[in-house]
Amino acid sequence: MSEIVLDYSNTCDCVTESDIDAIIPEVLAAKELVDLKSGQGGDFLGWLDLPSSVSEELIKDIEETAEKARSLCDLFIVIGIGGSYLGARAAISALKGEGLAEFENKSGNSPDICFAGFNMSSSSLSSLLDLIKRRRVFVNVISKSGTTTEPAIALRAAYEAMKEKVGREEASKRFAATTDKAKGALKTLADREGWKTYVVPDDVGGRYSVLTPVGLLPIAAAGLDIRKMLAGARAAKENAAVKDVRQNTSCLYAAIRNILYRKGKKIEILSNFEQYLHYFGEWWKQLYGESEGKDGKGLYPDSLDFSTDLHSMGQYIQEGERLLAETFINVLESDKKIFVPHWEDNLDGLGYLEGKSLDYINSIALKATAEAHLQGGVPNMEFKIPRLDEYFIGYMFYMFEYACAVSGYILGVNPFNQPGVEAYKQNMFRLLGKFK
Ligand code: PA5
Repeated sequence: MSEIVLDYSNTCDCVTESDIDAIIPEVLAAKELVDLKSGQGGDFLGWLDLPSSVSEELIKDIEETAEKARSLCDLFIVIGIGGSYLGARAAISALKGEGLAEFENKSGNSPDICFAGFNMSSSSLSSLLDLIKRRRVFVNVISKSGTTTEPAIALRAAYEAMKEKVGREEASKRFAATTDKAKGALKTLADREGWKTYVVPDDVGGRYSVLTPVGLLPIAAAGLDIRKMLAGARAAKENAAVKDVRQNTSCLYAAIRNILYRKGKKIEILSNFEQYLHYFGEWWKQLYGESEGKDGKGLYPDSLDFSTDLHSMGQYIQEGERLLAETFINVLESDKKIFVPHWEDNLDGLGYLEGKSLDYINSIALKATAEAHLQGGVPNMEFKIPRLDEYFIGYMFYMFEYACAVSGYILGVNPFNQPGVEAYKQNMFRLLGKFK
């Protein structure tokens, strides 16, 4: 299978074929607004063309910088918040591992990748400064505006620590900035210090920027194949061009989630059965939360890791307020083969599972969960992902971005602004005396 398939058979009475027929004209109208870049926020649709518009020159340049960074460091630090780090983190943890994988003894000379500058925790920042002291580091600071407080504080502290450790000249070789082409404090600083710089295109907002240098540089620095990722995104773009909504995975998903919303569902949970997809869920939450949560509307996006969270949130999903819809991410094939070992005395009663693969048991867990949740009144759908690699991560990024844009227009909001994010900032600046 070279494509991702959306199975919505478990939405049953909540989403009928006639519901889909009825919403199709709205889906096509929304799709046209996206394709023609003629809807609200239409000047932020540059991401639509990225799978094919990222030039060979830029890809080579990013690969060279990534290679150079890999030779200079054993820890590649990404400083950024929101759309400036979540895409890279999603791809890197999906493909390089998450949780226990971070403690593995790495073979080869692949640097560790860490993320910072997305909170104001002194504990986190002091760990970062400690790492800078102990490790050979390279820092990629990412901020489209170049003025966001959280990454700006982390950058100040990190640059001071680096200058103290290796001197200003050497520190400058170990920083790269990804920011606006001309404006913002970060651009001025990077130019003054002689850092390598990359541009976040004007017409691409943070949460749609993973296929620009924002995502591509850290992902390449992790040793992943960004060409393959762009090829996956191109395949998703081809599918997104299909006019038949039922054959167009992005449009079908946009249609179904809007039907669910109109039928009273208020929350959509993106549930994975693969721990490595934890940060993919975080990326997806930001994409849908910031794009649709406005004008008093929108499904609240949540994400869970199963079966882990079945032991914490499973009770609520099964029997709590019936506001929920669920979307499963099912990775069909894994390259790790683990089988339940034989125990002579069968002390733990697992004899019935002996010799069965963990992938098989996990797939049954998904099936059982989908069935139980449907019976409990939670309609659910399932994205079938052939396997986790760069191609399908690229595919998923584009597929969900396109779906989000179409879904936002069906909902009647501008999917490309985020005016609500300013409220806390203005209060914080006032309380901190920024405007005195
Ligand atoms: O999606 C968005 O636009 C936001 O999440 C931004 O990416 C986030 O606020 C960081 O902004 P900046 O890249 O300007 O520092």
